[in-house]
Amino acid sequence: MKGKILVTGGAGYIGSHTVVELQNAGYSVVIIDDLSNSTADSIDGIERITGTRPVFVKLDCNDLDGLRNLFASHPDIKGIIHFAASKAVGESVQKPLLYYRNNLNSLINLLDLMPQFDIKNIVFSSSCTVYGEPDVNPIDETAPVKPAESPYGNTKQINEEIIKDFVRSGADIKSIILRYFNPIGAHPSAELGELPNGVPQNLVPYITQTAIGVREQLSVFGDDYNTPDGSCIRDFINVVDLAKAHVIAIDRMLEDKSQDKVEIFNLGTGRGVSVLELINVFEKVSGTKLNYKIVARREGDIEKIWADPKHANNVLGWTAKENIDDTMNSAWKWQLKLREKGIM
Ligand code: UD1
Repeated sequence: MKGKILVTGGAGYIGSHTVVELQNAGYSVVIIDDLSNSTADSIDGIERITGTRPVFVKLDCNDLDGLRNLFASHPDIKGIIHFAASKAVGESVQKPLLYYRNNLNSLINLLDLMPQFDIKNIVFSSSCTVYGEPDVNPIDETAPVKPAESPYGNTKQINEEIIKDFVRSGADIKSIILRYFNPIGAHPSAELGELPNGVPQNLVPYITQTAIGVREQLSVFGDDYNTPDGSCIRDFINVVDLAKAHVIAIDRMLEDKSQDKVEIFNLGTGRGVSVLELINVFEKVSGTKLNYKIVARREGDIEKIWADPKHANNVLGWTAKENIDDTMNSAWKWQLKLREKGIM
């Protein structure tokens, strides 16, 4: 065993895929999750894939006493991967205090307890949303952080600053901040995938739920952008590729290879794919015709953004390997599995 890692939000979409990769790499894992946007079914999925059931504790990271008890009963935790957060952009505009409370307090509580329990390493889930609308694409980590478009985006920026300030204050911790582009797809086994509560806000679950008949029609938000086909462009990154980067980040900190106490990496493929292109890929790999219509732009959407992932490629030795066809196929297989199980 390589050591014990705490994964907050480990029952969720990216978290559960990361737990699989951590266990495959020889780490033991403790998951905490309040199940506010996930279910414990993913723990079963992790066990079916890896043959090992991670420790799971239902706990909200806002619960400082609960966290303290958890750390006291697992004194051998070597690192934390902090996924737990509220992540719906639109909701964050409606309920800013909820977002600031959840997303800021969680990190503050973890950082507060880390020195007390001699935990020195934390990976933080950030987002390309910190770049706003980029002046140039692809975008690398030296690009300026732009004023946030939503409270959700602001919490990512503030959390990055909180980590930097805490390190600057002399705290004996290291952090790797990972800025995700658009994670999509599912585990190839179809044992894990994305299952949002209620109506999906993100594109790919909306596509697969429409194709299977749970939603009537996908709305494509705008075809009058300054892009080749008029729809927005994103850097869609396979969730398993993304998960693997977290294992590398944890290895790097535990092996004391970080060049800085806080390191920041973009995680993307380096390729921009438009919304309409992604729909085409989906229709091809699923053999279905998607019912969609073009509607007005969605407020706050970025026109185009894709990553320059060279820093992660060169320094972490990590590259996104999966192609978009296989990735969309994995999302579809996951949706079919949910149907087979009668979940959706
Ligand atoms: C958004 C956030 C990002 C956050 C992520 C988490 C912004 C600018 N970005 O990413 O910070 O980390 O959510 O969930 O808010 N689309 C449709 N129809 C749909 C849904 C989406 O056409 O029903 C389009 C959108 O207009 C967008 C693209 O698909 O162009 C991707 O949308 P989405 O999956 O919501 O991700 P982002 O908005 O890129």
